[in-house]
Amino acid sequence: MNCKITNSKLDPFMSFGKMPLANGFITKDQFDNEFFFEMNVCFNENLSLLQLGNHPKPEKMFNIDYPFYTSSSRAMIKHFSEYANWIKKNFLHEDSKLIEIGSNDGTLLTNFKSTSVDFLGFEPSETIAKLANDNGIKTINSFFCKKEVDKINKFKGNTDVICASNVICHIPNLPDTIETVDILLSNKGFFIFEEPYLGSMFDKTSYDQIYDEHIFIFSVNSVKKIFNLFDFDLIDVIPQNTHGGSMRYVVARKGKNEIKGSVKKYTEKENKLNYDNIKSCFEFKLNCEESKKKTLDQLNQFKKEKKIICGYAATSKSTTILNYCGINTTVIDFICDTTKQKIGKYSPGMHIPIVSASEFQSRSPDIAYLFAWNHKNEILKKETKFLERGGKWFSHVEI
Ligand code: TMP
Repeated sequence: MNCKITNSKLDPFMSFGKMPLANGFITKDQFDNEFFFEMNVCFNENLSLLQLGNHPKPEKMFNIDYPFYTSSSRAMIKHFSEYANWIKKNFLHEDSKLIEIGSNDGTLLTNFKSTSVDFLGFEPSETIAKLANDNGIKTINSFFCKKEVDKINKFKGNTDVICASNVICHIPNLPDTIETVDILLSNKGFFIFEEPYLGSMFDKTSYDQIYDEHIFIFSVNSVKKIFNLFDFDLIDVIPQNTHGGSMRYVVARKGKNEIKGSVKKYTEKENKLNYDNIKSCFEFKLNCEESKKKTLDQLNQFKKEKKIICGYAATSKSTTILNYCGINTTVIDFICDTTKQKIGKYSPGMHIPIVSASEFQSRSPDIAYLFAWNHKNEILKKETKFLERGGKWFSHVEI
């Protein structure tokens, strides 16, 4: 296995075993032909970069049926509205140009509709890109990569902000992405992206952040080192509550901007905690094994007590939990979810039925495994009746 940035040889420090696509929700007739890969995790100490060893091709993951819609969470709609306002205030002027990588259904870009900013999204999933275009969000249905830039000549060397959220960690050919940013960004432009943060994952033992689509789990050290290789500076970092703990990174061309104190603060903090070297990975591995044991012991106890257990939200993260821990329909009867493309299908690998959110009430489960633990405020607020009738939330992370 080789590092996706430097091509140096890497050895995995941990394997999660055979894993299906995190968003590979399937119908019964597809059970026999399901795709699996061996999910190993490696750490490049030179870049302090955690990454998957093997991964499926992006075309396999972000295809026509990709079932993730950013707007499915109210909290995310609010987050993106605030993110857009922050970008407008700090980085844009009246006739600015802005590109979003992996713009999904346009939840962020819609906030620029009423401005004079010339904006554009890149979204590889055909159905989602169409939905965005139908809603007046100009979206190119493609991966953001060098071979696409000739289609958008006016943005070349002229784009003030290129932004992304929970997308850059999905891209195996990150060097191509950075080179594409280099072609499109103006001399004084900014590349801003936010991604699940390694420090939060290690703190919470939220190993479910690791799945096929999350090729990299970034830290401040790793982002700084990667971008330095391409003549960019990491000039600011701002922690975010989204996705169970994320970090927003602001990158600019080398030497063009003052580097804020936040970068030093977080690199030093990470160094102290060994997040810049493999020691922290070995500790994380032990914590994952302990978490798996605790989860299974607790779920088995619930079963002994004849409790009905359901899953709440068929998240991508749940695919890692269910397959790593080997939890199937003998333990969890069903998973309820609001996404219509998932309802009526089965969870990847473990084949637990996905049902509509209304069945959370009608089937009266005793225990709900909160797979969307990162959306807990939003969910617990709307599901107060569950606790009132004696239901109990469960998760492998503290909720
Ligand atoms: P993700 O963690 O892979 O982004 O998926 C989030 C899933 O959670 C998505 O399928 C929608 C679902 N969901 C619910 O079912 N109910 C909710 O209240 C929220 C916030 C999300």
